Amino acid sequence: MHIDAEISRIRKNFFETIKDIKTAEQLTNVRVVYIGRKGKVSRLLREVSGLPADIRPRVGKDLNLLKNEIEKNINDISLRFSGHAAEEDIDETLPGKPFSVGGRHPLSIIRNKITEIFFSMGFSLVEGPLMEDDWHNFTALNVPEFHPSRDMHDTLYLEGKDNLLLRTHTSPVQVRVMKHNKPPLAVIVPGKCFRNDAIDASHFPVFHQIEGLWVDKDISLSDLKGVLSAFVHRLFGNVRVRFRPSYFPFTEPSIELDMGCPVCGGSGCSTCGHGGFMEIMGAGMVHPEVFRNSGYEEKYQGFAFGMGIERIAMIYYGLADIRDFYNNDLRFLEQFK
Ligand code: DAH
Repeated sequence: MHIDAEISRIRKNFFETIKDIKTAEQLTNVRVVYIGRKGKVSRLLREVSGLPADIRPRVGKDLNLLKNEIEKNINDISLRFSGHAAEEDIDETLPGKPFSVGGRHPLSIIRNKITEIFFSMGFSLVEGPLMEDDWHNFTALNVPEFHPSRDMHDTLYLEGKDNLLLRTHTSPVQVRVMKHNKPPLAVIVPGKCFRNDAIDASHFPVFHQIEGLWVDKDISLSDLKGVLSAFVHRLFGNVRVRFRPSYFPFTEPSIELDMGCPVCGGSGCSTCGHGGFMEIMGAGMVHPEVFRNSGYEEKYQGFAFGMGIERIAMIYYGLADIRDFYNNDLRFLEQFK
């Protein structure tokens, strides 16, 4: 059929022509020549009405398909010329492809929150060795020879190293700091601690503490209460704070600090053991024996405190199992990003 040959000739010519297109103007010309109002395809379309009725629908359909095909190819090519004069098909205004970035570990997030609060109150940060000697970890802190924490079951001693152990708390750094610095001083000491504990929902052999120490000429228990209440309120908002008498060998008097349970608000629930409060740290006025062991004169006073970062983080995020911090499960960790 004459018209069928015409259609395939136009189609073949079109695809030959677009191979050599280099500019937007050439493309516009091609559009006019093929599918413009007086173009080759449009001219044939006008002839369809004069064709015999038996072939009219099929030819009409073929022509429309050809028209669409040509249009699509012209549009595709036109993308090359749009936007930029540059030959390259790059749009610098589009946002980049996102790539996955890591996030901080929840324990680091909480440690940073805690240290930031104490920085704002004038404390500076120091660190001490993880491998300690018996004297700094126990004796200098007035921990008596028969104290249970000295037991092999609680403390990880280093084999073949006389009197060396993995520190069981951050308190030995108190003595190290005082030995090398004169008052007034206010420091916080974050870091790893180690105990020979069996693993369960609230114990792990490696954990983290933050120690605090403020020494000057007339520091009193009121300063301790003021600083630690402010700290709790800054971290947890408007919760109740309770100071309870306690005992630590290196402080006198010693206290424990409780905060109102954030889950029930103090009325009592299963999280706080129905007491309405949660214990969050130990503290007290530095024992004169600790000052003596650090080479300090009588005239100084100070307070110290120590808290477990895991414990604070678990209360802060409402977590029930300490092991979640160390399992490296991304489904857990990604929630803190
Ligand atoms: N070192 C204690 C512990 O690991 C915590 C502690 C209690 C630290 C009272 C202190 C303090 O500085 O004054 O359980």
